[in-house]
Amino acid sequence: MTRQNTTGHGNNAVEVRGLVKHFGDTKAVDGIDLDVREGTVMGVLGPNGAGKTTLVRILSTLLLPDSGKATVAGYDVVRQPRQLRRTMGLTGQYASVDEKLAGWENLYMIGRLLDFSRDGARKRADEMLERFSLTDAAKKPVMQYSGGMRRRLDLAASLIGHPKVLYLDEPTTGLDPRTRNEVWEEVKRIVSEGNTVLLTTQYMEEAEQLATELTVIDQGKIIAEGNVPELKAKVGGRTLEIRPSDTGELNRMVGALAQAGLDGLAGATADEDKGVVTVPIISDEQLTAVVGLLGERGFAISDIATHLPSLDEVFLAITGQKATHQDDEETKLKEVAA
Ligand SMILES: Nc1ncnc2c1ncn2[C@@H]1O[C@H](COP(=O)(O)OP(=O)(O)O)[C@@H](O)[C@H]1O
Ligand SMILES: [Mg+2]
Repeated sequence: MTRQNTTGHGNNAVEVRGLVKHFGDTKAVDGIDLDVREGTVMGVLGPNGAGKTTLVRILSTLLLPDSGKATVAGYDVVRQPRQLRRTMGLTGQYASVDEKLAGWENLYMIGRLLDFSRDGARKRADEMLERFSLTDAAKKPVMQYSGGMRRRLDLAASLIGHPKVLYLDEPTTGLDPRTRNEVWEEVKRIVSEGNTVLLTTQYMEEAEQLATELTVIDQGKIIAEGNVPELKAKVGGRTLEIRPSDTGELNRMVGALAQAGLDGLAGATADEDKGVVTVPIISDEQLTAVVGLLGERGFAISDIATHLPSLDEVFLAITGQKATHQDDEETKLKEVAA
């Protein structure tokens, strides 16, 4: 089933049909179909062990599939690996640069490996360091870099050869929130320059920030696809938690919201244990309206927070059952949800 190109937004940069890769009894990739249109960002969302890295490794010619077909920028991953490697860039889950070498040396070496002339590789290394604000750290060994600097260098490394398609495999897993934001900004810039990106992530929030289309996978299979609002709608969007200064006001607050007649606000509930009113939020306008309304009615509020649905909630909504995780993922997902 090839998706018809009815929107006129160009061709598919990535086309995957019936892709399978098993490791013994483990069905890492178990019949995946995927289209990524040129110039868009496809987010592949799934927990640890879902098959994301295996998919990326097949699409970057590092691993042969058992069956199925995949083309990237028109090149077959099995039959035209050398041509394909010249048109793609890969930023792995774990930084692929050499720790002992300086930032500049890493980029220069990659340029040389990609057949740039000495001069060309030098120029490109300078250019990429400048672009990723690493010029001052050019001569420092990478082991002295902060986490954010390393990821920026990793992104720079994957862009040296002007790839048409870029794979970002969990680009922010393990980063603190500030560094994560920094990487997101860089990725947004790369995307705004018209690159095609396939991004894997465990984080709904990351997918929402960066991806135009989403494919949710679990145990090697696609369990949902669509754009971000479509998927969010399935899980009921965000939740707003409002903490009144006086917890005795919880029920009066719920009443005020319910009477306001705003769309969706009938779903407001009081959580006595946490001392908050919980409101499902379907749009930014609604969020603004809720806060405005409570202000007008003279409620004193001590805290407001919005929560995105966690990956677990997405799975629950899509599959009707809890996702099964390995032990370490369980903790990770709880941390993310917290
Ligand atoms: N080289 C391998 N040999 C055996 N099993 C593997 C190998 N690579 C991945 N797996 C298994 O395949 C499944 C999918 O792994 P992976 O693609 O790394 O998932 P993700 O990147 O989504 O965390 C996991 O159960 C993993 O243990
Ligand atoms: Mg992985």
